Amino acid sequence: MSLKKPAKDQPENFEFSSSSLEEAKTIIAKYPEGKQQSAVMALLYIAQRQNDNWIPLAAMKYIAKFLDMPYIKVYEVATFYSMYNLSPVGKYFIQVCTTTPCMIRGANKLVEACKEKISENESELSKDKTCSWMEVECLGACVNAPMMQINDNYYEDLDKEKTLKILESLFKGETPKPGSYRGRINNEPENNRKTLLDLKNA
Ligand code: FES
Repeated sequence: MSLKKPAKDQPENFEFSSSSLEEAKTIIAKYPEGKQQSAVMALLYIAQRQNDNWIPLAAMKYIAKFLDMPYIKVYEVATFYSMYNLSPVGKYFIQVCTTTPCMIRGANKLVEACKEKISENESELSKDKTCSWMEVECLGACVNAPMMQINDNYYEDLDKEKTLKILESLFKGETPKPGSYRGRINNEPENNRKTLLDLKNA
């Protein structure tokens, strides 16, 4: 988790679109009367999706009013969790996991690929403004390490060369296939192993 700084350039106003409003109301209705503030995380996520994948301060203020809670409490939540972007990100937002299991499987090579293809520093837009990248903590796919997330999809079992190819196809406007890049289905064992005994005899 990271404490992030809000963007310098901020829009003056924010309000939910009609579809976001509908979605927010549906979520709030799931909570008991008087507990609507518990929907704050979901509402921040809706605001992020609506606003090109980042949350302006005006959206936090809007949500605070919407849920009848102090603005500072919404701000605290938005700045605490790494899934909320507080400044503009690319149309393709790449999150590289660099927690221990991914790191010992070569996550630093994925970071190198992002630096070469996108931008030297994380959270900076590429020259054509389509991509940005950042390091994040464990994304829960350690068994397929190293891995990265691009928008809503996971790309797993990567190395530098495969990462470069994926990034190149993004720049061409293509959508690379998500999942394992070593041909595994989900996180199945390799070499057709079925039990730990197979491993012992391998
Ligand atoms: S350590 Fe990278 S997904 Fe868990």
